[in-house]
Amino acid sequence: MDMQRIPARDGDYNLKNYDKMRDSFSWDEVKKNFSWNETGKVNIAYEAIDRHAENPDKKDKVALLYSSPDREEQLTFDDLSKKSNQFANVLKKYNVKKGDRVFLFLPRSPEFYASFFGILKTGAVAGPLFEAFMEQAVRDRLQDSEARMLITTPELLERVPQEDLPDLENIVLVGDHNESSDKYIDYHKEMSDASTDFDIEWVDLEDGMVIHYTSGSTGKPKGVYHVHNAMVQHYATAEWVIDLKEDDVYWCTADPGWVTGTSYGVFAPWLHGVTNVIRGGRFSPDDWYGTLDKHNVTVWYTAPTALRKLVSAGEDVVKKYDLSSLRHIMSVGEPLNPEVITWGLKAFDLRIHDTWWMTETGAMLIVNFPSEEIRPGSMGKPIPGVDAAIVDNEGNELPPNQMGNLAIKKGWPSMMRHIWKRPEKFQSYFINEWYVSGDSAYKDEDGYFWFQGRLDDVINTSGERVGPFEVESKLIEHPAVSEAGVIGKPDPERGEIIKAFITLNEGYEDTPELLEDIRKFVKTGLSAHSAPRELEVKDSIPKTRSGKIMRRLLKSWELGLPTGDTSTLEE
Ligand code: PRX
Repeated sequence: MDMQRIPARDGDYNLKNYDKMRDSFSWDEVKKNFSWNETGKVNIAYEAIDRHAENPDKKDKVALLYSSPDREEQLTFDDLSKKSNQFANVLKKYNVKKGDRVFLFLPRSPEFYASFFGILKTGAVAGPLFEAFMEQAVRDRLQDSEARMLITTPELLERVPQEDLPDLENIVLVGDHNESSDKYIDYHKEMSDASTDFDIEWVDLEDGMVIHYTSGSTGKPKGVYHVHNAMVQHYATAEWVIDLKEDDVYWCTADPGWVTGTSYGVFAPWLHGVTNVIRGGRFSPDDWYGTLDKHNVTVWYTAPTALRKLVSAGEDVVKKYDLSSLRHIMSVGEPLNPEVITWGLKAFDLRIHDTWWMTETGAMLIVNFPSEEIRPGSMGKPIPGVDAAIVDNEGNELPPNQMGNLAIKKGWPSMMRHIWKRPEKFQSYFINEWYVSGDSAYKDEDGYFWFQGRLDDVINTSGERVGPFEVESKLIEHPAVSEAGVIGKPDPERGEIIKAFITLNEGYEDTPELLEDIRKFVKTGLSAHSAPRELEVKDSIPKTRSGKIMRRLLKSWELGLPTGDTSTLEE
């Protein structure tokens, strides 16, 4: 396994000596960077926005550098502080209280960020939704969280099944609309009437901050509940791994509907008072290189699936742009192929640093540091203050180079505190003192971790996590579909694609038109990224005697692999 190794380059990195830092590390040192350490008054919105707005040297610094194909806007820390205060006043006027769940279903836009921090300032828990979600995905999340309020646009409102959402009292609409009932609140009108002063709601470090819904192999998406204390780890990793410095221009390409887009799309850079680029619109190589060039981005956090697309677009496209400001690149979400790292060295003359973490972990845990050697294909080493190990199913640590469960010792600052309304689900993540990730990996003799795969049926398609159960449930809502089994099928660009096996109801025939109709049904009902790229009609779907779909068997068939133990198969 001794492949090419890429040594660290000389540079004035924030974290200089990993081993020394790990040995002497205490989270209490990191806490000294927050104002609450002295005042006792906690709110992540204060630390990320208002603290800089109150600082005469910082208040007029650009916090948000927004651009999309049809809109450009810059907001300073002072602007963001005032706008989020105004929005907090609007929420308060409509009785939003600490602990309430307030959801955002908005495109990436300045309004998203002003409302997001407005929510946090009231002490409510923010629930960001990916803008590509369709009705079923929106319903599941708003129902489960018993959301009281939603901020959306008139265009996206169509996908909000209000008749199924009795807890949803008000909807804030961003944009022109004709809704007249009291239920609707006009964003722009209310904002212009609202004061730019707001008495921020101080909270406890353990109070709720953000709920992110994510998929598992069974059941509906689950609400992963994060608390204000997560800021300790956002801050620390922004320093050590993202290596942020005062004059950086930082760009994280993730959507705020996913955890990367909140933890590292806003909190990490703004806790450090760094200028943050937000790019709206869709992905294209020209657009992304253009964004790096135009804003002189220095630090870039992106994903393997995007990098692989850039690789296929070729080097000529890179050469059209001036990327000389770029000094540091990181990646997350899926395995980072060694070839992509090699390409990065050629195309950007920079190393690409893989980082590993999950929605549940709230922040980076295993990473490649700018000041350490990179072993392409490895996710790197645990951050200071975090113990990672490979354990067996009883929670015993395994020796180096042995594959097993990637596990983290409980107690890191940004760990989820519970799964919304599902305590038994939360408990199921732990064996003794270990949080068990669901990923398999091994650790080499030098402490580098190597990702091997998911241990459950969760699908990772273009870095987006999809639960087979949700897709299966949607499929069988189609009048033609009787049963469905869904798997991830390896794909060179997307990591995995979604493949669905279905059986048809009496009277339906296996035609390309029908299959296309079924695909569209999932796409428009659930979300585009959950729609199966491949659909295959079968006479039956293999199930266990207790009725569970044997996705493992479907996958073995698909890949032409040995089928293993089939003793529990139904017939
Ligand atoms: O399987 C791992 C994969 O993504 C899963 C977590 O997905 P999600 O909760 O959506 O969070 C994504 C971004 C934080 C993990 O269980 N994953 C994440 N990072 C890596 C990875 N797989 C391989 N290498 C990584 N660096």
